[in-house]
Amino acid sequence: MSKLIAILAGDGIGPEIVGEAVKVLNILKNNGLDIILEEAPMGGAAIDQTGVPLPDNTLNLCKKADAVLLGAVGGPKWDNLERAIRPEKGLLGLRSGLNLFANLRPALLYPALASASTLKSEVVENLDILIVRELTGDIYFGQPRGIRTLENGERQGFDTMHYCESEIERIARVAFESARRRNKKVCSVDKANVLDTSMLWREIVTKIGKEYPDVELSHQYVDNAAMQLVRAPKQFDVIVTGNLFGDILSDLASMLSGSIGMLPSASLDSNNKGMYEPIHGSAPDIAGQNKANPLATILSVAMMLRYSLQLPDLADKIETAVKSVLDQGLRTADIARSGEKVISTSEMGDAVVAALKM
Ligand code: IPM
Ligand code: MG
Repeated sequence: MSKLIAILAGDGIGPEIVGEAVKVLNILKNNGLDIILEEAPMGGAAIDQTGVPLPDNTLNLCKKADAVLLGAVGGPKWDNLERAIRPEKGLLGLRSGLNLFANLRPALLYPALASASTLKSEVVENLDILIVRELTGDIYFGQPRGIRTLENGERQGFDTMHYCESEIERIARVAFESARRRNKKVCSVDKANVLDTSMLWREIVTKIGKEYPDVELSHQYVDNAAMQLVRAPKQFDVIVTGNLFGDILSDLASMLSGSIGMLPSASLDSNNKGMYEPIHGSAPDIAGQNKANPLATILSVAMMLRYSLQLPDLADKIETAVKSVLDQGLRTADIARSGEKVISTSEMGDAVVAALKM
């Protein structure tokens, strides 16, 4: 049976980078991959069309689909809307509406880009880290939250951080299972010296770790982990952490790999249905200029083939094609060193298609 893939281009550079990923999907389709692509509005684009960032039709399409490919959402045009109808709210609604609790964010350095990182190449050479970020809990979704007025008339903003045991258990299992297929090390990142939520987090991760005696478990406080990621990132294999810390650490880790424009991500439910998106944002400053790097989105397609469509060979092919265009010296602006020739979004997409050798 055909697999249905929902395509949500979103805002800013979203349509451009998703367009290149769709080129790749269409080549696979022409070569026998049985997929149907269906587009839907999401984020600011959906606000403009329907007044809300995640219209019911879009959510229903995503529920029905086997996988979702998302570009990026948000931009200054919608920044002054109230939080409930901001583009980001659509993204959070999709994550919780589809139960996508496990966010996999690999930070992998392609050898050809060793000099594109702001860190010394010996620090990042052969880097291969997987950040497993919990995605449907924590302070992102905790209630109560809001801005209230105190008795003295001053306003106070507040949010609630919490994690249930079951939420910690299932994300810990994803991390340990992932580590088993890699270098068998998990570092759990928390703030257990200060936060009660983190104390429970650490206790439960340690308990689940006992089920995986072949995987080495360590713990780091998030401030130390941030420092270690730039000091000696190769000490890490799998990092497992909560929603907020994972958001911050994954942006930090992206720079180890040369550019945030290189990093794909998968957000999975308990049946490996997933949403796939680059970890970078909508980059409104370069939107519509054919300048953005489409590789993170194309690599997100590879993750989709690997995790949701169970086609690891095709996923390998895409990753090999990306490696080959980088080895050929092709660079979008974000990964070019000064003086290097820069190609456009669509030229980069075409180069990957050409390298695919179907
Ligand atoms: C991310 C983004 C989102 C997040 C925003 C856009 C809501 O930063 O996917 O990392 O904070 O999770
Ligand atoms: Mg983020």
